[in-house]
Amino acid sequence: MDITMERSVFRKDLLNGKTAIVTGASRGIGAAIAHRLCEAGANVVICSRSADTITQVAGTLQGKGHTVHAMVADISEKTDVEALIEKTISQFSQIDILVNNAGITRDMLLMRLKDEDWDAVLQTNLTGTMYCTRAVLRPMIRQKSGRIINISSVIGLMGNAGQASYAAAKAGIIGLTKATAKEVGTRGITVNAVAPGFITTDMTAQISEQSQKQLLELIPLRGFGHPEDVADAVCFLASDAARYITGQILQVDGGMVM
Ligand SMILES: NC(=O)c1ccc[n+]([C@@H]2O[C@H](COP(=O)([O-])OP(=O)(O)OC[C@H]3O[C@@H](n4cnc5c(N)ncnc54)[C@H](OP(=O)(O)O)[C@@H]3O)[C@@H](O)[C@H]2O)c1
Repeated sequence: MDITMERSVFRKDLLNGKTAIVTGASRGIGAAIAHRLCEAGANVVICSRSADTITQVAGTLQGKGHTVHAMVADISEKTDVEALIEKTISQFSQIDILVNNAGITRDMLLMRLKDEDWDAVLQTNLTGTMYCTRAVLRPMIRQKSGRIINISSVIGLMGNAGQASYAAAKAGIIGLTKATAKEVGTRGITVNAVAPGFITTDMTAQISEQSQKQLLELIPLRGFGHPEDVADAVCFLASDAARYITGQILQVDGGMVM
């Protein structure tokens, strides 16, 4: 994993002493978020399903002097999520920031969509996000503070042919974000979502050149986003600068949906 990010615009002590969990951080947006949070001074626990890649990302970040722990965890499995939270608490005694980033696609027109593909997308993207969120609430309530940032998608706002399961899961994350924000606001915990548009990662690499050209026409800023664009939005929401923001959906999409 090549982490060659532009220099962060955030202060190096912005998140000093904070502990963050980033799910799905073995590549793409999650790896960029982990990097940004590290650069801002946070201790970061990263997870994904594959041991090789998550260890590699952790190694790269540790090589830059950051405090990072890699864990193999499948967020669609409740027991994995519980182990992730327990180990983070035993290592760092607290969880200040949770970034629910892990996600998958199994795109197919609804008429041909298989039940198992629907189930996999909902179980990972929506139920997995709920498992992680529910599991951090107790420690965050105890601390009387916390930041939960969910990665949704503009597809959850606008829909997309061939992505019914993904759109439903990402729209579900928006509902989950708002409901949780209302439940825990009095406990000093904020819950927000970032909705990226088209970001260049492995997830979007399969989209045909012709579709990419058509998509570009829909983006007023006329370009695709980079994982760092999403990571910067997350870093802001994780910081004290965002302390009066909760239940919001921050679109990072070049103006694609407005
Ligand atoms: N790229 C875009 O244009 C775009 C736009 C809007 C929203 N998003 C959202 O942004 C997030 C990251 O997207 P990306 O483009 O960076 O995707 P990606 O390159 O496919 O990376 C997905 C990450 O999630 C991990 N993951 C998948 N299933 C998991 C599970 N069950 N448990 C733990 N980790 C899991 C993957 O690692 P393993 O496979 O090793 O588990 C990988 O680290 C996703 O939620 C995606 O829906 C992306």
